[in-house]
Amino acid sequence: MKTLKLQDLKNLDNQDPLSAYREEFYLPKNIIYFDGNSLGPVPNKTKENLNKTINEEWGNDLINSWNKANWINLPQALGNKIAPLIGAMAGEVIVVDSTSINLFKVVSAALRLNDNRKKILSELTNFPSDLYILEGLNGMSDNQYECVLIEEDVNDIEKYIDSSTAVVMLSHINYKTGRISDIKKITKYAHKKGALVVWDLSHSVGVMSMDLHNIGVDFAVGCTYKHLNGGPGAPGFLYVHSDLVEKVTQPLSGWLGHIDPFAFDSKYIPASNINKFICGTPSILAYKAIESGLDVFDEISMEQVREKSIHLSEVFIELIQQECGEFGFELFSPNDAKHRGSQISYKHENAYPIMQSLISRGVIGDYREPNILRFGISPLYMRYEDIWSAIICLKNIMQSNEWNSSNFKVRNYVT
Ligand SMILES: Cc1ncc(COP(=O)(O)O)c(C=O)c1O
Repeated sequence: MKTLKLQDLKNLDNQDPLSAYREEFYLPKNIIYFDGNSLGPVPNKTKENLNKTINEEWGNDLINSWNKANWINLPQALGNKIAPLIGAMAGEVIVVDSTSINLFKVVSAALRLNDNRKKILSELTNFPSDLYILEGLNGMSDNQYECVLIEEDVNDIEKYIDSSTAVVMLSHINYKTGRISDIKKITKYAHKKGALVVWDLSHSVGVMSMDLHNIGVDFAVGCTYKHLNGGPGAPGFLYVHSDLVEKVTQPLSGWLGHIDPFAFDSKYIPASNINKFICGTPSILAYKAIESGLDVFDEISMEQVREKSIHLSEVFIELIQQECGEFGFELFSPNDAKHRGSQISYKHENAYPIMQSLISRGVIGDYREPNILRFGISPLYMRYEDIWSAIICLKNIMQSNEWNSSNFKVRNYVT
């Protein structure tokens, strides 16, 4: 294999059709950001949008803005902006609550539809909140479910799906390994056995294309603060297939999910559309940040984003081998790009201090238990040259033993 040089990467940047999108973001100087799969950076337009909302809509127009600025319809309007990114139709997606709460609502809705079945399937290495929600949900009813968490590769889950399976609940991209689950294959098989599916798209939305509606996916949820750059703790989204929207019900029956909230009726009658998944009042400032995060995607082809994500990742893996091969980093993500999402994870016995040392030098990735360095790949603002600089920085840290300083061994609460 040819040795890669900095100039090769500069050439790739010059040929990159997405390079102009970097200008859409506020990226601090001397930072190389590999944590867009945890918290995306601030889109420049977000600052303007929030200023306008505070000064004009909230400031001058006060409560009139619920009608005048259409605040009240933001959950549906932003849902419709996410829809094309995940292959959903208008009216199938809504931005509301957090991903964890949305999961509670859609899994509950699925269980109510499949109420003669008792098994829920997921994987042991699914994001913990997803598993905790299942646990909590199960603890609420006398009607206990059997939660089966598989330990083998999720793409082998089919042998566990049978006529007792109510719901299969999985992540599209695993948060630790970055492994992609085959949505189409698993959904089709689950349906053949009469089970419903719930997909967590938190790590895939904004970095790869999807086709949820045509595949027939029943339910999905996802975060907006990762690759959609919606801001820290931004509300999540949920998707319900149009064939199910009318008939499903969910337990968090708040007033804005009512068919006619401003009738202030004492009896709850759910909306017949996706609005039934709204519970309480949307947090408008947070929605406005998501709005401008989504605007960046208006003209972008997800196929192009995926292509660049794969290429950046291949260069990253190749450069780690070339420059850091002697330092004991073990690729934990799938080696085959087809099975790998937009992140690269490495195992290393000193993963925590190495990551802290990198962060202190402005190369920001993150750490996951027990020994994983995680590097998110964000094609909209990442340059090939950044990969070079980051890996040379890692090489220096390893060669100089800088990571071994006691400063880098002190655990932060958020890793
Ligand atoms: C895959 C996945 N699912 C769910 C969540 C939880 O999202 P929230 O804290 O917004 O409820 C996260 C958070 O990082 C996640 O990565």
